[in-house]
Amino acid sequence: MVSLRVLPPLAWAASALLCFNLTAHSDTPDGLGELARVVADSQDTALQRDVLRGLKAALAGRPHVTAPAGWTELEQQLAQSPDAEVRSLAQSLGLTFGSPAAQAALRTVAADRVAPVAARIQAIGSLLLARTPNLAELLQSLCAEADLRPTALRGLAQFDDPKTASVLLQGLPDWPPDHRRDALNTLASRVAYARPLLDAIVAGKVAKSELGADLVRQLRNLKNTELNTQLTRVWGVMQEPNADMTAEIERSKRRYWAGGSQPGDAGRGRVVFNQLCAQCHHLFDTGGQVGPDITGANRSDLDYLLQNILYPNAVIPNEYRQSVIETKDGRVLTGIIKSSNGAAYVLQTPNELVTIPKSELAKLDLLETSMMPEGLLTGLEDRQMRDLLYYLSRPGQVPLPTGN
Ligand code: HEC
Repeated sequence: MVSLRVLPPLAWAASALLCFNLTAHSDTPDGLGELARVVADSQDTALQRDVLRGLKAALAGRPHVTAPAGWTELEQQLAQSPDAEVRSLAQSLGLTFGSPAAQAALRTVAADRVAPVAARIQAIGSLLLARTPNLAELLQSLCAEADLRPTALRGLAQFDDPKTASVLLQGLPDWPPDHRRDALNTLASRVAYARPLLDAIVAGKVAKSELGADLVRQLRNLKNTELNTQLTRVWGVMQEPNADMTAEIERSKRRYWAGGSQPGDAGRGRVVFNQLCAQCHHLFDTGGQVGPDITGANRSDLDYLLQNILYPNAVIPNEYRQSVIETKDGRVLTGIIKSSNGAAYVLQTPNELVTIPKSELAKLDLLETSMMPEGLLTGLEDRQMRDLLYYLSRPGQVPLPTGN
């Protein structure tokens, strides 16, 4: 150990390396006891600090490691060290070894309203990193303090605790948007939290608009049938983009940009739009009402355009889902239900607004598909496709080419 005393930084590196090698596949690293004894036997604070640093580095990311023999006594000894870093390193190693004393000390710091905020956040971080059990109650109470709230909210996702959802849903309306976002992310992280979240949305306690597409995707990823059904009812239909879709969008982008720096002609694009889209969409100053007015849409973004044109079924807000109505006398209509009252449905078909008395209704199916057809670009020549997309990306209306 003489050489280590001479070269403290080496002691740090050596112990780290030693531990890495020895602990890679074991929960009871052999070298650990050895190194703990070096620390216990030494009076040299600098050496202790270096070896502890090395141990901490070596054990980082391993939440549970069996404590080396004699750790409890060593921990007590190091808690009295004149060196603050030695004390804090011993504490954080103690957590890794599941030491109740270290857990209790950090819990106290975390809950201490007069302790510096940074120290409290750090204490919570260490407790979370060490996967300390039974932390949920403390984190729930910390949600009341704005400074600690983001850390507490994110940490709560780690624990399956029956009270978490109600604490978050109760606090949510009073919190600022970024805290609400953290809370919603945690609520969307487990089936047990997502259920009360969706119930709160149905009950109107949380606005539906708080659920952005990314949160909806996260909720879908929980892959729970019951939740998905509720989600579809609350929000709308959403299909995960898959590798094929992404590849197709990339291909279409290349096709578009192969047209050069100004890939298309806006006037000719307007002609294509009139043929394929205007029946359903209002753009600038003219067009149909079946689909949304796309004048204010994110049209300058080629990804947005291609996603929506190539994959109309990927994201369909409820107000645009397709319904199929069958009347008692055998007529079948496809369209979007614009409104319904006690007596009738008003259905927007691709070409007309039809009122169907409920007394004539035999069957109504709400489909998971959009009124907007797929494959609209398929039949187009490259030039037409570029003209259309170029026109769609323009900020304002352009004249039709002469002769149209
Ligand atoms: C038969 C009617 C119909 C036709 C034809 C149609 N769409 Fe649509 N479109 C819709 C409906 C309904 C929606 C809303 C539901 C959805 O997103 O699928 C929509 C959605 C969109 C959106 C997303 C709007 C938003 O809210 O962000 C874009 C962009 C769009 N269409 C572009 C086009 C373009 C470009 C064409 C022509 C190539 C076209 N559509 C043809 C009915 C149609």
